[in-house]
Amino acid sequence: MSKHIALGVDIGGTGIKAAPVNLKTGEFEEERYRIPTPDPSTPDAVARTVAKCIAKFSPGRKTAIGVAFPGVVQNGVVKTAANVDDAWIGTNLRDIIRDYAGHDVYVMNDADAAGYGEYKHGAAHGQDGVILMTTLGTGIGSALIVDGQLVPNTELGHTDIGGEEAESFAADSARERLGLDWDAWSKNLQRFYSEMEKLLWPDLIIVGGGVSKSHHMFLPHLTLRAPIIPAELRNGAGIVGAAAWAASEHKKDEKKRKDADKKSSKKS
Ligand code: BGC
Repeated sequence: MSKHIALGVDIGGTGIKAAPVNLKTGEFEEERYRIPTPDPSTPDAVARTVAKCIAKFSPGRKTAIGVAFPGVVQNGVVKTAANVDDAWIGTNLRDIIRDYAGHDVYVMNDADAAGYGEYKHGAAHGQDGVILMTTLGTGIGSALIVDGQLVPNTELGHTDIGGEEAESFAADSARERLGLDWDAWSKNLQRFYSEMEKLLWPDLIIVGGGVSKSHHMFLPHLTLRAPIIPAELRNGAGIVGAAAWAASEHKKDEKKRKDADKKSSKKS
């Protein structure tokens, strides 16, 4: 794989998806590959599937690989698992994927990846200020990007609003589970996004997740201070963001390594 390509993998509740991403354009270099998420979604079963997705594209030793996970990921370790198997909590995601795939990877939260993807190549391309990305799916994911810096693991979908967890009434799965029509669901979304505005005063709100392709059914019903717009990369945002993030972290690591080498050669 060329220097301008990194591999992105997005672990979702129903599918694990991967594609090589052109870091200059944000486009997929090859068709996306998808394998259904194993059930139960235990660490070993998921890591084995991620490894298959990675192997499909035969990345070279130097290719940066990013993996997005639907829970809090801190220093490589999974801290929460709202929509995947509980056995993930405390698992080192980076290590387990490296063990199965035989390739080092960078790991992050899935909504953070989607937000970063939209910032790098999508609806918020290069935009300064406070950008709030939300993904409406099985859960609600959030990413906060402030002047280009990602504030990781914001988990705003679990905000308590009037005694209810936002995800339980405003996620796309809640729309389906509660049998809500677009109008009724829009009211729930209004509750969620009004609370977000109260807390964060974002300059721009982006709405992603599969349902964002039907944005014309609910976004026009919302009254907010900030513009609220659909994600441009749709369901590909997580893959693009994970790849772009991995490439940027990889670059930083390389620089650190070179600086350390220089220091040690000066000493000797
Ligand atoms: C999880 C988040 C995740 C979101 C979307 C939530 O339930 O807590 O970490 O980003 O779902 O997958």
